[in-house]
Amino acid sequence: MEKITLKDKTFRKVISYEQLSAAIDAVACKINADFKNCDDVPVLLCVLNGSIMFTAELMKRFQFNCQVVSTKLTSYEGTGSTGNVKQALGLTADIQGRRVIVVEDIVDTGFTLSTVVKILKSYNPASIEIASLLDKPSMRKVDDLKLKYVGFVVPAEFVVGYGLDYNELYRQLPY
Ligand code: IMP
Repeated sequence: MEKITLKDKTFRKVISYEQLSAAIDAVACKINADFKNCDDVPVLLCVLNGSIMFTAELMKRFQFNCQVVSTKLTSYEGTGSTGNVKQALGLTADIQGRRVIVVEDIVDTGFTLSTVVKILKSYNPASIEIASLLDKPSMRKVDDLKLKYVGFVVPAEFVVGYGLDYNELYRQLPY
């Protein structure tokens, strides 16, 4: 297994670019099946910063028009969640009455996504579905989240790359 040293930690390559691309193809295929030929313009909500790569790759594969909206929440410091979720950037467009697809990089404890969903509901969207590139279900501390579209289930280990950071670095890694 290929080892990579980033700052003070050694990582191993767990998911290759090719595997990520194939997983995103599969997720996009499911979303297309649900939204293709729709009369509305669904909102694709990019939860910054971690989801930028996944959002861009997903929308390239869409066979329907969507509006990209962003928001930003913070809770992670170093390699762990503080459990204290703060909204650093409000929604960049009105979502009232719209169908929303939330795009996450990873769901760990679930506190961040739970907060996102609570905020979204306060604006009365028509529906909310969740797409997450990675899911760490063994770390979950909330039980009200339903992830409709998931790329990979990963074990309870800290991962970086493809949008995910370690102290704001390494988001650019294509694996
Ligand atoms: P949660 O609130 O614990 O579910 O954490 C969600 C957010 O924490 C994600 O959107 C990521 O930004 C960050 N995060 C969680 N796990 C990891 C990881 O393994 N690597 C990098 N960031 C992570």
